[in-house]
Amino acid sequence: MIEFKNVSKVYPDGTNAVKDLSMKIEKGELVVFIGTSGSGKTTSMRMINRMVELTDGEITINGKNIQDYNAVDLRRKIGYVIQSTGLMPHMTIYENIVMVPKLLKWDEQRMRDTAIRLLKHVDMDPDTYMDRYPSELSGGQQQRIGVIRALAADQEVILMDEPFGALDPITRETLQDLVKELQHDLGKTIVFVTHDMTEAIDMADKIAIISEGELVQFDTPENIVENPANDFVRSFIGENRLHRSDNDQVVEDVMITKPITVPRGTSLRNAVKLMRDKRVDSLFVVDDFNVLYGVVDFEAVNRNPIDKTVDDIMRLPNYYVKKDTLLKDVTNRMLKHGLHTVVVLNDDYELEGILTRTSLVDMVYSSLWGDESIASPGEDGIESFDVGQIENYSEDSKSVEPV
Ligand SMILES: Nc1ncnc2c1ncn2[C@@H]1O[C@H](COP(=O)(O)OP(=O)(O)OP(=O)(O)O)[C@@H](O)[C@H]1O
Ligand SMILES: [Mg+2]
Repeated sequence: MIEFKNVSKVYPDGTNAVKDLSMKIEKGELVVFIGTSGSGKTTSMRMINRMVELTDGEITINGKNIQDYNAVDLRRKIGYVIQSTGLMPHMTIYENIVMVPKLLKWDEQRMRDTAIRLLKHVDMDPDTYMDRYPSELSGGQQQRIGVIRALAADQEVILMDEPFGALDPITRETLQDLVKELQHDLGKTIVFVTHDMTEAIDMADKIAIISEGELVQFDTPENIVENPANDFVRSFIGENRLHRSDNDQVVEDVMITKPITVPRGTSLRNAVKLMRDKRVDSLFVVDDFNVLYGVVDFEAVNRNPIDKTVDDIMRLPNYYVKKDTLLKDVTNRMLKHGLHTVVVLNDDYELEGILTRTSLVDMVYSSLWGDESIASPGEDGIESFDVGQIENYSEDSKSVEPV
């Protein structure tokens, strides 16, 4: 589909940004370019649509040299999403979405239909948003518009340059899923630049690791982790990821077995004191049988009058795991949802331990261990907490934000 043959770029000032790059990107593939700042990712990507003209070698798309396309036509054939969304501030959302179709002279009806379909696809109500201006949308919403705009003209190839850099983890994940979905459903070929190895591993069919303008390794995430080409790649993916036996580790192997607990009814005064003494920022509220009733964190304690009790302010965690849950599954979940702590319970909801992010630092790239899809609750060993099964549970504590 897209082939780089010995491509180099030397900018007029003599900077050799890309050196002898050769790689093949197949149709329908999602390829991630990753590397340190200034390594030549953006330059490599922009040469594909001739926003940057190469100085040596050749790039072909579907076998045809890109120099044989008209540069403007080529750019219209290829969708492009950048980190700052690139939305035009003085144009409405609708006008932004149909910018390229308009250039391609589509009729009004076709443009409207497309805009409506795409907005619905990213859960944004067309009636509400079409006539707004970009500044009237949140950052995540603008980013969604940036992504669907790249799709509006139905281009086969989409280039995305750190499109989700500035977003919170949940919006980021939603958009990652959207991009994967579009790739699968619509068969788009996507080139995606990121700094973030977890994102690369989550999304890529193949990862291109670029260092100082050179392609160091180009392979599937699994193969790169199994056989890193050199120390640079190894440092990029993290030393500790390289032991296959990690695969079988379970929660019990790394959990903290004695989290700091308090009995129900403990006053916030005493809770604060305990937090200070034990140097922890959360406490687990249990009954005489060590059954978990909730968690209180330092912020909540701080926000509330000191004569309240932990029962008044505790929250029930959304997720828990069991001792024998595979670590790879938990890690995946923790990373994807930005969870800092997960409780470990047995079948009777007794607290057996906790997993913290710190206890998982060695396993950051969990999704490599197997199926990368997000399992629904239960499937990956992380069950949804069934509040109904715990008696006397205070009504307040059910109002936990879903993660
Ligand atoms: N227009 C330009 N003129 C001269 N040098 C340039 C130009 N654009 C980029 N460079 C240089 O080319 C090299 C590669 O830049 P590029 O933007 O491709 O890096 P990158 O990998 O995308 O970096 P980042 O992760 O910071 O976005 C850098 O040394 C950069 O300074
Ligand atoms: Mg860049």
